[in-house]
Amino acid sequence: MNTSSLTPTAASRRIVVLGTGGTISGRASQQGDNIGYTAGEVGVAQLLESAGALQAGAHTLVVEQVAQIDSKDMSLALWQQLAARCTHWLAQDDVAAIVITHGTDTLEETAFFLHTVLQPRKPVVLTCAMRPSSALVPDGPQNLLDAMAVAGTAGAQGVLVVCAGKVHAARDVQKVHSYQLDAFSSGIPGLLGVVEEGRLRRLRPWPGSAEDRALQNGAGPWDLTQEALLCRVLHTAVAAWPRVEVVLSHAGASGLLVDALVAQGVQGLVVSATGNGTVHSELQVALLRATAAGVRVLRATRCTFGQVLPTAVDTLPDSAGLQPLKARIALMLALLQEGVSVPGGGVGGLSAPDSSSMASRRSE
Ligand code: SIN
Repeated sequence: MNTSSLTPTAASRRIVVLGTGGTISGRASQQGDNIGYTAGEVGVAQLLESAGALQAGAHTLVVEQVAQIDSKDMSLALWQQLAARCTHWLAQDDVAAIVITHGTDTLEETAFFLHTVLQPRKPVVLTCAMRPSSALVPDGPQNLLDAMAVAGTAGAQGVLVVCAGKVHAARDVQKVHSYQLDAFSSGIPGLLGVVEEGRLRRLRPWPGSAEDRALQNGAGPWDLTQEALLCRVLHTAVAAWPRVEVVLSHAGASGLLVDALVAQGVQGLVVSATGNGTVHSELQVALLRATAAGVRVLRATRCTFGQVLPTAVDTLPDSAGLQPLKARIALMLALLQEGVSVPGGGVGGLSAPDSSSMASRRSE
């Protein structure tokens, strides 16, 4: 990892920019090519320079190249490293905010992971691009400038995503388009705000604020305690993190995949269910078998918008509004916090926090 300080000004507060790769740092061999490129080629310092973002107003920039990957290859190890770097920088009094450049493909997962484990009182702003840096008209520079503007906004807090002039909360954001520049949606909850000419117009409360918490529908089927969870995340070898998989309920579904996963020792399953959390009867039988075998199972809807509403006849718990990919992360982290780990996976890495500080999962 490479760390450098850019344009320091005496006594100014710092914004830390962490690069992880993605299309924003992608390069194609031909300038007009917006899809035939390699992600994660251009360093984050160069991206800042090209965007004219080195003059970050009153802030000194600290730049770290944490990784240089296509985010389809995002790993638990890199999540752990990002959590560690964010924890390090957020603890510095003179650090006002963190900006993370990231690929769009798993951005909502990284954002939700960081949101859950950090619950920061400062802004952690992820940004991205749909076109490579070599495009004739790249979108990355404006997204980066907008992310810097949000990061520098007084009172900002929480994990946020900035793309195409829109600001999303990590909990709600979802990539909904495979090509267009405005690729993300916050669905029914809606945008946190918009960036206009370098200024944030906020539409909803900051994540984690009292107003925001009042709007949330309870804690969900888990009780994650930020400090205990972060301790687990930072000190448990990733090979030992609980294994949680997503299975899909669809026409012609069977229980084969679930049975195979249970036989392999999976510890959690999220079923990406139809409509209001309904599950194909054959899959449902296998999921109930999995539950009886001690596997934690949650239902989330595969619909882009909306959430599973509980009914009197539910046999499997729902994901409390989280869509399947985020429910998978929340369940993995809940199990990790409870001390569930892959047998033998922790060799050489586990330094468990005091188990008395672990909150147990709310009963369903
Ligand atoms: C990636 O997710 O790293 C590649 C795709 C993108 O950033 O749009």
